[in-house]
Amino acid sequence: MSDLPQNIFPEFANMLGREAKESLLGQRGVVVWLSGLSGSGKSTIANALERKFHVAGRFTQILDGDNIRSGLNSNLGFSAEDRTENIRRIAEVAKLFKDAGVITIASFITPREDLRAQARAIIGSDDLVEVYVKAGFETCARRDVKGLYAKAAAGGVKDFTGKDQEFEEPKNSDIVLDTDTETKEETLARLEGFLEEHRSKRLLSDTSPGFSPK
Ligand code: ADX
Repeated sequence: MSDLPQNIFPEFANMLGREAKESLLGQRGVVVWLSGLSGSGKSTIANALERKFHVAGRFTQILDGDNIRSGLNSNLGFSAEDRTENIRRIAEVAKLFKDAGVITIASFITPREDLRAQARAIIGSDDLVEVYVKAGFETCARRDVKGLYAKAAAGGVKDFTGKDQEFEEPKNSDIVLDTDTETKEETLARLEGFLEEHRSKRLLSDTSPGFSPK
């Protein structure tokens, strides 16, 4: 209790619990956290995965960098401190979703090991699948979906990940999806296979409806 701010009395223990909500939804809440460079394919994978889950009758929510930064975190930039606060808030939100039984897909660069450790500590490793969406800086710069790599090369983006700030390769991810060498279909199939495998370890519930994406 000593970590709590003064005069704050959380009500979690008295509220309707996670199990009741999971039972209603027929699934177990989990956070699938995708990290990787801007343009590595995180959002593409998140979107495709969510649609597969949806077809399979699973209830999902995506939390995505540009979306969250245009709302909840619109007051944050890309300094080391702001990225820490960005990930802290997102991990807390992801935790609320998964505790409500939702399959939560978080898609954020999450460029440092301490940021990923922070998310892990907030969410809890039993409820988290860490996915590294791997693509080299050059590949992402070549794709340049948002035009940010060209802008950064011309000096127009402050603190750009991979140029001005390091992207530390994740060492603790549960699965690595290499979008440099694999097609979108291949990465998705591997991720689905991995999540399916984890379902038997109770990361995803095997209560009906089954997760059998088409
Ligand atoms: S994180 O590092 O704090 O995890 P986050 O995933 O929320 O980043 O936001 C990354 C998105 O912000 C990128 O996909 C890109 O569109 C945009 N962006 C704008 N400026 C930067 C920057 N300096 N570095 C990285 N991404 C940036």
